[in-house]
This record gives sequence, C-alpha cells and structure tokens, in this order.
Amino acid sequence: MAFFATNTLLVTTAIHLSSGTPWKEVWRKNIKWLALSYLLLSPLALLLARAYETPLIGNWGGWTVLLFLVPLYYSRYYWDEKVRLEQAFDTTLEVLMNALEAKEKQTRMHSERVADIARDLAKAFYNDEAKAQEIYRAARLHDIGKIAIPEAVLLKPGKLTEAEFDLIKSHTKLGAELLSPARKVAFDQLVYNVILYHHERWDGRGYPEGLAGQDIPEEARIVGLADAYEAMTAGRPYREAKSPEEALKEVQDFSGVQFDPKLVRLFTVLWNQNPIWRDREAYLAAKGGSVSPSTLPQPSSESSLPSSSEPGSRTSES
Ligand SMILES: [Fe+2]
Repeated sequence: MAFFATNTLLVTTAIHLSSGTPWKEVWRKNIKWLALSYLLLSPLALLLARAYETPLIGNWGGWTVLLFLVPLYYSRYYWDEKVRLEQAFDTTLEVLMNALEAKEKQTRMHSERVADIARDLAKAFYNDEAKAQEIYRAARLHDIGKIAIPEAVLLKPGKLTEAEFDLIKSHTKLGAELLSPARKVAFDQLVYNVILYHHERWDGRGYPEGLAGQDIPEEARIVGLADAYEAMTAGRPYREAKSPEEALKEVQDFSGVQFDPKLVRLFTVLWNQNPIWRDREAYLAAKGGSVSPSTLPQPSSESSLPSSSEPGSRTSES
C-alpha cells in the first residue's frame, strides 16, 4: 500500500505539472479506480506470502503458491470471456443497426441521438452509470422492429392509410419478436421493455398495450421521451423541424399527458445545461456530419410528436 501511495502520488503530480490539469482531476480520472483494486488485492498478496511460507508439497512453498494461482488464472480467463461477450453484444448491435440503416437512412443518427439523450436522462434518474449504459444500448435498438416493415410503407412520403399506420405501429412487437431468440443470452428484459413500450404514453393512449403511468417500465418512459424530443427537432417532409426551445416547450406541455412529469423535470434541468444533443445540428457537427439533415427530405415513417395520435397523421409515433 505504501508503494501504491508513493507511486501514484508521484505520477499524479507529474501529470498535473506537465499538463496543467488540476491535481484532483488527474487523480480522479487516472488513479481513483485503481485504488479499490489495490485495496482488494492486498489481502491476496498477504495470503500468497503466507502460502509461500507454508509448503504443502515438498519443502518448497512455491508449489503452494502455484496451487493458489490456478483459480486466479481461471478467474482472469472468465473475466476476459465476459469482456469478449460484451464486445460481441456491441458488434451485434451495430450489425442490426446497419441492417436497419440499409432500409432507412436517417436511422443511425436518430438512434444515436435518442440513445445519448436517454443515457443522460437515465443517469439523472437513477444516478447509476451502469444502468444508464444499459439504457443507452437498449435505446440504440428501440426501432429495430422497423426492419420487418415493408419499405413501401416505411418510406412512404405521403399520408398513411389506417392499415399502413397500424403496420408501422407493429414495429414495437416485431422488434421484440425479432430479438426473442437472443432473450436472456444477449438481451435482457430491459431491452425488450424499451423496444416494446417506447410508444406508450403516460395517459394510456399509446401503443401497443395502452399502459399508463407507472405501469410503463421506467426505461421505456425514458427512451420514449428521448425519442419524442429527437423526432420533434428532426423534422419530416410533412412538417418543419422544431427549434430546441419549441421542442422543450412541447415536452413540458405534454408533461403528465404523454410524458412522466418527473422525467420532464429532469429533462428540463439537463436541457438547460446545454448538452451536445440539445441542438441537432451541433450534434451532427460533433459527430462528424457535414449536412443539415433537419432540412433534408427524410423518410416519413414516423415521428414522436405528442400533439396528435390519430391514425394517418403520423404525428404521435416513432
Ligand atoms: Fe419507434
């Protein structure tokens, strides 16, 4: 521990002096996470030292240490496997998004921005970084069911018939069905809740189940709000994009109607902190986009405007 303390104090100070970054900030970013690991591993070092002093085979304590190292090696092996599985999950997610993007071009940008908003909102809601990351991943997939919607309907520029609108609405259930073989292996219940229920409304007038209030899973309420804000500020061929201020006002106006009031309050606080996702064009620029998609003709499959829900209007779904 003395070695760790001396070593990290010197390294932190050296980085602080050379980069000008506040000392505390350097410690928090580079060293703090290591401290816990050192603390937890120090009893293990003590145990190994004792093992060395207590030979079980022959007169050499090294054999005892080696016996201890076998389970340690396996722990490390399984940890690597866990990391590899998580990477496979992320890759699967990207593949699925690529498949959807091949059908609907703006999808990736939409899903990334929705996921970024949802992550910030989840962080504020749960104060839990890991949970926020889970919701981020789920939000990336929220519209994956659109893969199963015929392009003639998905990309139709004009008004939808009632039957077509019903077909679009089915993307929630279709998405859950699509991922069902991976249930409990790669995608947990949270992912399904987001895909299935992100179009439910606080007042119970959403779909597919017409759930209301607290009956809607929290993660779906979070992604639903993020989805609505992104869609409002994106614009569609049949309506202009709203400014961030107009979209915020709409979200606030529909607090307790479409959206969870508690989430609207948190969203307002976040919005006032001017996050990168607040303004769509700034977001695009930050992500390396060079055009202004809010003025581009976009597939008109859906938006999340909360102002209307009648079939054919395309104003209440996404
Ligand atoms: Fe959707």
